[in-house]
Amino acid sequence: MKIALLGMGTVGSGVYEIINEEKGNYFAKAQEKITIKKVLVRDKGKKRNDFIDEEILTESFDEILNDEEINAVIFAMGGLEPEFTFMKRSMEKGKHVITANKAVVSEYFEELLNLAKKHNVMFLFEASVGGGIPIITSLKGTLQINQIDEIKGILNGTTNYILSKMSSEGKAFADVLQQAQEMGFAEADPSADVDGFDVSRKLAILSSIAFGSHIKDEDIYKRGIRDVGKEDMEMFSNLGYILKFLAHSKRMDGTYSASVEPVLLSNKDIMSNVNEEFNIVSIKGNIIGELQFYGKGAGKNPTANAVVGDLLYIMNNQNSRESIDLSQHLTNKGLGAFNGK
Ligand code: NDP
Ligand code: HSE
Repeated sequence: MKIALLGMGTVGSGVYEIINEEKGNYFAKAQEKITIKKVLVRDKGKKRNDFIDEEILTESFDEILNDEEINAVIFAMGGLEPEFTFMKRSMEKGKHVITANKAVVSEYFEELLNLAKKHNVMFLFEASVGGGIPIITSLKGTLQINQIDEIKGILNGTTNYILSKMSSEGKAFADVLQQAQEMGFAEADPSADVDGFDVSRKLAILSSIAFGSHIKDEDIYKRGIRDVGKEDMEMFSNLGYILKFLAHSKRMDGTYSASVEPVLLSNKDIMSNVNEEFNIVSIKGNIIGELQFYGKGAGKNPTANAVVGDLLYIMNNQNSRESIDLSQHLTNKGLGAFNGK
């Protein structure tokens, strides 16, 4: 299979390494080789890691689009545009699309699923929520039997890293934010992390799948963690509480509520013990009850693992069309308008 990779930053370089260095069980017994034929970057002249083959770098998306041999495109750039346009054009050309970009998925959820269906390609986005946690696959599996009534969790690695380091090491907000940026967890504009937009996009994606209705990020009540000081964290800790940045959505009598905000948890609560870049997601089904998923929610390897997992899914299931299942689920618009926080 020949593929293209758009972006060679934190996520893109992780994907490149797994595929080119054939890391993982798949490659030991692979029937089919995966070749990264082209890598799109903004600036070809930028100094990059030595392991990257500079010959395959390009600044032209059309070069990728017009290459008939490339049949899947991995998106690891960021922002709404040009990613959305490039996704549409890839699907129109019959290329499968995989993305880690929650901004695009949450904004154009329904449109992208419908485009994939129209052009008979797969559209997968496991890495867009929860980094390495296979939450989207698990949610789709749980939905086969259950009605999902509630989703709750810590869905942002950067802010969880900031809050847990402020709490455990008494560090200042700005210093830990910088560390999170250096470790590759933060968005290009970290205000998306600290003001709650990244979390609300992830909650919008999970809730749209769970509730079968396109829930938009702007419908979600959000309050960020920008104003939290290290003295606050110390006081909460002395009282037996830990501050966590929680995402929460709930089905209620034909409608739903959704919020993203800092919440004080007892230090005995499982979620209060989720630290650094780790995420946790709890979903409640009407038959199975509560399920919890835990793992690294940001960073190169966990995210790249999720992206390559989607690619292998496509290689192994070329005849099934995962996105079609989801879009059919979406046409079953079970929920009315947002009911406030
Ligand atoms: P980086 O900023 O590290 O890398 C972005 C890459 O995309 C760079 O290689 C850049 O090129 C390239 N790029 C950006 N814009 C363009 C453009 N217009 N044309 C061509 N190339 C472009 O981002 P990340 O790897 O951290 O994130 C990528 C995506 O993955 C984002 O959507 C992010 O939200 C998502 N994500 C990130 C996670 C993480 O832990 N970092 C986890 C889960 C999802 P150049 O190198 O030339 O500058
Ligand atoms: N900036 C995001 C985070 C990356 O910190 O969780 C993973 O989606």
